[in-house]
Amino acid sequence: MADSKTKSAVVDTTEHQIAVHWKEEENYKPTAEFIAQANLTDPAINERFAEKNFPQCFEEYADMLTWYKRWDTVLDTNDPPFWKWFVGGKINASYNCVDRHLAKYKNKAALISVPEPEGEDPVTITYQELYIRVNEFAALLRDFAGLKAGDRVTIHMPMLAELPITMLACARLGVIHSVVFGGFSGEACGLRAADSGSNVLIYMDGYYRSGKMIDHKASAEIAVAAAEKEGQKIDKILVWRRHPDKYCSATPMVKGRDFFVDEILKDYRGKLVDPVPMDAEAPLFLMYTSGTTGKPKGCQHRTGGYLAYVTGTSKYIQDIHPTDTYWCMADIGWITGHSYIVYGPLALAATSVTYEGVPTYPDAGRVWRIAERLGVNIFHTSPTAIRMLRKAGAEEPRKYHYNFKHMTTVGEPIEPEVWRWYYNEVGKQKAVIVDTWWQTENGGFLCSTKPAIDLMKPGSAGPGVPGIYPVIYDEQAKEMSAGTGKAGNICIKNPWPGIFQTIWGDRERFVKQYYSKYCKDPKSKKWQDWPYFAADGAVLAADGYFRILGRVDDVINVAGHRLGTKELESACLTVPEVAEAAVVPVVDEIKGRVPEIYIVLRPGYAPSKEITDRVIATLETMIGKIARPKQVHIVPDMPKTRSGKIMRRVLAAISNTLDTGDISTLANPDVVEQIRQVVQGKEKVATKEGPEDLKQFGKEE
Ligand code: PRX
Repeated sequence: MADSKTKSAVVDTTEHQIAVHWKEEENYKPTAEFIAQANLTDPAINERFAEKNFPQCFEEYADMLTWYKRWDTVLDTNDPPFWKWFVGGKINASYNCVDRHLAKYKNKAALISVPEPEGEDPVTITYQELYIRVNEFAALLRDFAGLKAGDRVTIHMPMLAELPITMLACARLGVIHSVVFGGFSGEACGLRAADSGSNVLIYMDGYYRSGKMIDHKASAEIAVAAAEKEGQKIDKILVWRRHPDKYCSATPMVKGRDFFVDEILKDYRGKLVDPVPMDAEAPLFLMYTSGTTGKPKGCQHRTGGYLAYVTGTSKYIQDIHPTDTYWCMADIGWITGHSYIVYGPLALAATSVTYEGVPTYPDAGRVWRIAERLGVNIFHTSPTAIRMLRKAGAEEPRKYHYNFKHMTTVGEPIEPEVWRWYYNEVGKQKAVIVDTWWQTENGGFLCSTKPAIDLMKPGSAGPGVPGIYPVIYDEQAKEMSAGTGKAGNICIKNPWPGIFQTIWGDRERFVKQYYSKYCKDPKSKKWQDWPYFAADGAVLAADGYFRILGRVDDVINVAGHRLGTKELESACLTVPEVAEAAVVPVVDEIKGRVPEIYIVLRPGYAPSKEITDRVIATLETMIGKIARPKQVHIVPDMPKTRSGKIMRRVLAAISNTLDTGDISTLANPDVVEQIRQVVQGKEKVATKEGPEDLKQFGKEE
């Protein structure tokens, strides 16, 4: 392995420029075998996508698609920071992911959907079949559900082929889909449906998880009630059945509102629906994500720019060819699934694999058996899943004869130690790894190595991907230079086609949250004056590689998924005995971070297990199991500033046995020791060195 170097980072800690202590990792090279077959091997890409060729460079991605009408303007900056891409162009995403492949790849597998029960065979759907199924369902959506371009529809479904079919049917009509992660609660689904103004929900009755059939339709009733409480009536629920003809939910179907898709589809057999040519700027979908306020925000993604960006990055960074069998283990209910299970791979005519259930069910070899049986050669997952698979069976991959050429890690920082297990054991020292950093708002990758061109460095995402010019600013908007070892806020200097258009229904919040911090001149129409603020801390090494440290705002990254502390706190406050709630991240061996809850009870109530259990149950009902806290601590009071703000930073330090720092400015410094005793016990526990994101957590307070 080339170029081994050990270098200590500069040690210099100020409030806003936290120095990061880590040693430079050894670099790894892609194999000659990988390079020989890669889509992107020409280093001239750097020149083609250099700042001087921006924004025209992105035409290379748009040209990978089939347009009804070519665009007139690549980038319109007249209404900053509401950038418009490929203006004047007309395109349909469903056509690009399905119809255009029929001539060459009609009988090739588009989707392989693997059921969790191992006795059930994978379901293979060819491009021809996908075409028919998408058309039939689009006809149903249009003619039975009355949906048309611009309408929103909320989809709450598990990881089965019917989910991408549903999305592509929406895209065919220009209906804006809003997929809610299947593991989220009915309440979370209902609130999102209300925010987006959906009057149709699309569900599946049930699905398998850890060997058990989950009654998913049960959550639809809760969703309807939650949406109606917000003033949004749900007229129809379309219910796919996990086993057609056999309803596997105990919840009754409501006459005139709930319909089995398989029954209605009989009326649309063989029906074809012309794809609707959409403006490049027409919204393709909404994806809700957590932010710093209690309410999740609907990230609105455009059709043309988004599709161009995910197609280009799937080709160059994921190295997807039509002959590849590609498996991304993310859930389609997250942005990774939208961009890199559905839209990117299918636009490139690849075979995209999905799996219904738990990766370690029924045993630690399941993932590798699927890879072996289907001949998966590109694998994509998160550090949480990698840690979990390693813990479940570190030597398990050796038993199977799959052959990965390429692997991705996404969603959280990966520890170099875990990276090396991924490389050595899972990739068998042959597969190239890309550590891709990006966010729901971004549509596609922002930082990553180019797999056949750049060296890999464990724990570092790498440079900006082609056409992305990242920069690290300190709090005073001063650019921090490479190789100083100091952390700052990573921003992107320029717009790109995958960036979201706005927060659904909230232009002001969009500008404030992502652009106001570093905007150089609010009146300027030059994109150069509007850097995008990602709310992640990062360090730039001397070699130009970015190492992402984690969120600098009140967002907790649980197993690669975002939960807003305010969102969790508002849920806790619905428990009548709870007077105050504060949520902090704690380090978890598998999931990276998990929430821990502090609550103060109203006067007259005594702490009890019954109350903590109810707080946990409430979080699960209002948000989903993903929000399950590690612990709930009932404390006498919260540490507060003199102006009455809860100092989450102090609580996070206690939960993680870190140094609480300066507490002398608190209104009630004595409470800190009392809280410490509730959490850690009477004996003083030695403080530890903590990860950077925890040092930064709550810093803004
Ligand atoms: O903190 C960063 C972390 O995940 C956040 C974005 O989460 P989400 O919108 O749910 O999207 C996840 C998948 C795209 C970021 O702000 N993150 C994402 N990728 C990485 C990462 N942290 C470190 N390394 C990564 N590769």
